[in-house]
Amino acid sequence: EKGGYEHFMLKEIYEQPNVIKDTYRGRLLANKGIVQMAGIEDNIEKFLNAERIIIVACGTSWHAGLVAEYIFEEFARIPVEVEYASEFRYRNPIINPKDVVIAISQSGETADTLAAIKLAKEKGAFVFGVCNVVGSSISRETHAGAYTHAGPEIGVASTKAFTTQITILTMISLRLAKAKGTMSNSDFHRYLQELEAIPEKVAEALATNDIAKTIASIYKDAPNCLYLGRGYNFPVALEGALKLKEISYIHAEGYPAAEMKHGPIALIDEKMPVIVIAPKQGHYDKVVSNIQEIKSRSGKIIAVVTKGDTQVKKLADHVIEIPDTAEALTPLLTTIPLQLLSYHIAVMRGCNVDQPRNLAKSVTVE
Ligand code: M6R
Repeated sequence: EKGGYEHFMLKEIYEQPNVIKDTYRGRLLANKGIVQMAGIEDNIEKFLNAERIIIVACGTSWHAGLVAEYIFEEFARIPVEVEYASEFRYRNPIINPKDVVIAISQSGETADTLAAIKLAKEKGAFVFGVCNVVGSSISRETHAGAYTHAGPEIGVASTKAFTTQITILTMISLRLAKAKGTMSNSDFHRYLQELEAIPEKVAEALATNDIAKTIASIYKDAPNCLYLGRGYNFPVALEGALKLKEISYIHAEGYPAAEMKHGPIALIDEKMPVIVIAPKQGHYDKVVSNIQEIKSRSGKIIAVVTKGDTQVKKLADHVIEIPDTAEALTPLLTTIPLQLLSYHIAVMRGCNVDQPRNLAKSVTVE
C-alpha cells in the first residue's frame, strides 16, 4: 500500500512529479498555447469581472493560497486577499457580489473552510473550490471548482496536495492573464512551457534526498529552526516551518527574510539553524544580504539555491540545489527539499511521521 516506501509521507513526496502531471493533464497544452479548465471556462465572466479574489483556507492550503496571491496579482492583476477561514468567518467580513471567493482544501471537509464558504454564498459571492477529494463537502457546497487530482493523501502532513494546489492556481492565473491581456504573449507561452516541464524538474529536486538526509542528521536535535524566504518563496518558508513542527515537534517559524531585523534576528546564535530559500531569481541580492546578516551572528545556514549558484555557496554551511525555472514557479521546486528535510528529521527523532500526535488528517470540528 505504501508502494515500497517506509511511510505514506515519503511515498506522497515522491509521487509529486506524476500527480502534478495528473493535475494539468488535458488542461495544459503548452505547444498549442492552451490552458483551460471546465470550471473556469463555464464561469469565465465571473472571474473577468472580479474586482477582488478572496482566498479562504487553513494550514498548508492557506500557504498555497499565499503563493497564489503573488501569482494572481502578478499575472492577472486582480487584487487578492488570503484569509484563514477561521478568522474570516467570525469577523463579519466585507464581501461584495463582485468578489470571487476561492476555497482551497485537500480533504474538502475542513469545518472552518466550509463555514466560510457558506457565509460568502449568503453574502452573494461566487465561490470556487480547489479540492482534492472528489465529491467532498466543499466540492459540493461551492458553485464551481477544479479538482487537483493528486490521488489520496494519507500522511497527515500535506505534501502533494500543496504542489498540486499551486499548479492548479497557476493555471487559473494564466488563463485569466490570457483573457485579460495582463501578460505578454511571449511570457504566457514561456510559462506554459515551464509549467509543463515542472514534473521533470520536481523529479530532479527529489534527488536532493541524500543531502537532505545528511543535513537532517546534523540538525535533528535542534530545539528551534527558522525558515526565511522572500516574494513567491515567503509562503514556502511558512510551509517548511509547518512541515517541520507538525511531524518532528521541533519549534520552527517561517518569516519573510526582510522581517528578520524586526525581531527574529535576536534569536540567532551558533545553535540556530536557519533555512534560507534563495533561488537565483526574485530578490536574490536581498536574500544574499540577509544570509550575510545571519552569518555575522554565527547562525547555521542551510540554503536552497538554483543549480550553479556560487555566491550563496560561499556563505552557507550547506546548500541544496534545485533546477532553474521561471520565478513564479520556484515554490514548486523549493518546497521539495524542505519536505524531505522535515521527513528525515522526524524519522531520525523516532516520530510517528504519518500520524503525528494531536493531529487529524481532516479537521472537521472548528
Ligand atoms: O484538507 P484541508 O486542505 O482543508 O486541510 C487544511 C489543514 O488542516 C492541513 O493543510 C494541515 O495544516 C496539514 N496537516 C498540514 O500539513
